[in-house]
Amino acid sequence: MKFIKHLQENESVTSYCQVRSKQAKLKKNGELYLRLVLGDSSGRIEGKLWENIEEVQEGIQAGDFVKYQGVVQVYNGSKQLILKRIRKALPERDSEDDFDVEDLIPCTEYDIEEMWQKLHSLVLQQTSRPCIVQLLTNVLNDNEEQIKSYPAGVEIHHDYWGGFLEHVLSVVESALFFADKYPDLDKDLLIAGAVLHDIGKLEELSGAQNPSYTARGRLIGHVVMGRDLLRREAARIPEFPERLLMLLEHLILSHQGQLEWGSPRRPKLPEALILHYIDDLDAKLNRLCRVRKEDPGDSDFTAFDRYLGRVVFKGKYDEPSEHQLLASISQ
Ligand SMILES: [Fe+2]
Ligand SMILES: [Fe+2]
Repeated sequence: MKFIKHLQENESVTSYCQVRSKQAKLKKNGELYLRLVLGDSSGRIEGKLWENIEEVQEGIQAGDFVKYQGVVQVYNGSKQLILKRIRKALPERDSEDDFDVEDLIPCTEYDIEEMWQKLHSLVLQQTSRPCIVQLLTNVLNDNEEQIKSYPAGVEIHHDYWGGFLEHVLSVVESALFFADKYPDLDKDLLIAGAVLHDIGKLEELSGAQNPSYTARGRLIGHVVMGRDLLRREAARIPEFPERLLMLLEHLILSHQGQLEWGSPRRPKLPEALILHYIDDLDAKLNRLCRVRKEDPGDSDFTAFDRYLGRVVFKGKYDEPSEHQLLASISQ
């Protein structure tokens, strides 16, 4: 198995990957070609199929695992694969050859079971109102399979198997830090907001393996879907306090921070303001670290990242020592 991250210019390669998306486009002469986004656990690359596209157009869909043969070219500074052949991977036949689904899906680097146990124990140990413990335990238990596998998004941050859980746990841990730093905060409210802020993504996204936005996701969005889920879950708990529910609804509705970032309300409580910033920080940090890790260039800076709106420094932090400089000159 040759990983996408290791592909070199002009290399002929035969390997496996997952088709992340597929689009038919027009050549200048009016004929169709296929533009595919191909991915494995190491990264993604654009693939082009110029000839004989009919079979692939009908037989291979986004999400499928495939075996491909192609040549790596560089176009506009980015590597792309010019595909010669591509077919669906056949687990019975190809597993003898190197095919392993786990190599093809990007996955959290943390242990999913450990994260799950930690999230549960933080809820039990760090929240005090019985109605909040009940609410959070119900939501976690009822959605266990999805919470453990879903990404936190299609592309922007934590966009891999287990990414949702990794992001939520990280935001809960930051919430605990701020709850200790500012003891006047309502810790229950902040932790509940951290656990539930993105829960609508379980409905907004289509699945864990090759997620896209569902129709409801596009039309309603995870912010409002999360608020709806909260109201349904609170209604299952006898005499859930109305005012506490209203504040928690506000945390979910305002967590994106700005109207233009999808929040119908901006944060109007200290707990809501903190939730917005720790959520945004966790998302941006995840994106920034991934951009640094995956950028293929040799320069000290990455290519421009449109989500972060900047290039990112990836050079060394320390000056090379005199000894290292002399060693590099003598080589
Ligand atoms: Fe969100
Ligand atoms: Fe989030």
